[in-house]
Amino acid sequence: MREFLIAGNWKMNGSSAANVELVAGIVAGVPTGSGFSLLVCPPFPYLASVVEQTKGSPVKVGAQTVSEHDKGAFTGEVAPGMLSDVGCDYVIVGHSERRALYGETSEQVAAKFQAAQVAGITPILCVGETLEEREAGTTESVIDEQLGAVMDAAGVGAFAAAVIAYEPVWAIGTGMTATPEQAQDVHRHIRAQLAAQDGSIAANVQILYGGSMKGENAAGLLAQPDIDGGLIGGASLKADDFLAIAQAAAGIQ
Ligand code: 13P
Repeated sequence: MREFLIAGNWKMNGSSAANVELVAGIVAGVPTGSGFSLLVCPPFPYLASVVEQTKGSPVKVGAQTVSEHDKGAFTGEVAPGMLSDVGCDYVIVGHSERRALYGETSEQVAAKFQAAQVAGITPILCVGETLEEREAGTTESVIDEQLGAVMDAAGVGAFAAAVIAYEPVWAIGTGMTATPEQAQDVHRHIRAQLAAQDGSIAANVQILYGGSMKGENAAGLLAQPDIDGGLIGGASLKADDFLAIAQAAAGIQ
């Protein structure tokens, strides 16, 4: 049985003071019940302090990207081993902002995915199409290329210790959420791609939806059979907004 994962991607937001307040609010308001976990992904400088603040709580901590290299002359980069060293459990790889703004290729994303796993960190692999690609009818082939690069490099077995996030680029930060049916169609397709190689891995992997998810639309999305949680940007920056999504997950279990 797959649990829900409700993950907040803070992107480049926050400050020491604001994070203390946000994390305190989240920790204090974690819904009762089981069948879901909560994750926050702050910017690098705050990882250690958020790990410290969440100790003893059910809230886990992840990073937003990682280097594919394990150490060396890579100025400005952060190695996977450093993330595990400071207590991270997860890392987002291949977010569309990284692909579009920093030119990350699917091969590089696959290398980051594998490097994270070597360090014992669970990668959250983001995939998703742009509006132009959706309108051109190429959504599935775009997803297949992004997912396929990782399956080719790491093998389907690697998805036993990974999470996938479907984030349609046109829904990110726009307020234009995919309908539950639109999201479910793609989630079903992703699971089928994995199932073609390994049915048990496909049945167990968590596939999150991301793109303008909020308290008002979370229940409808999370009720879909292949949607196992959310990767939330804007609505993860206020404890009450984030907790409203967590409540929706707790209510479905
Ligand atoms: P929004 O929830 O702000 O649309 O962002 C989604 C996202 O990119 C999460 O990674």
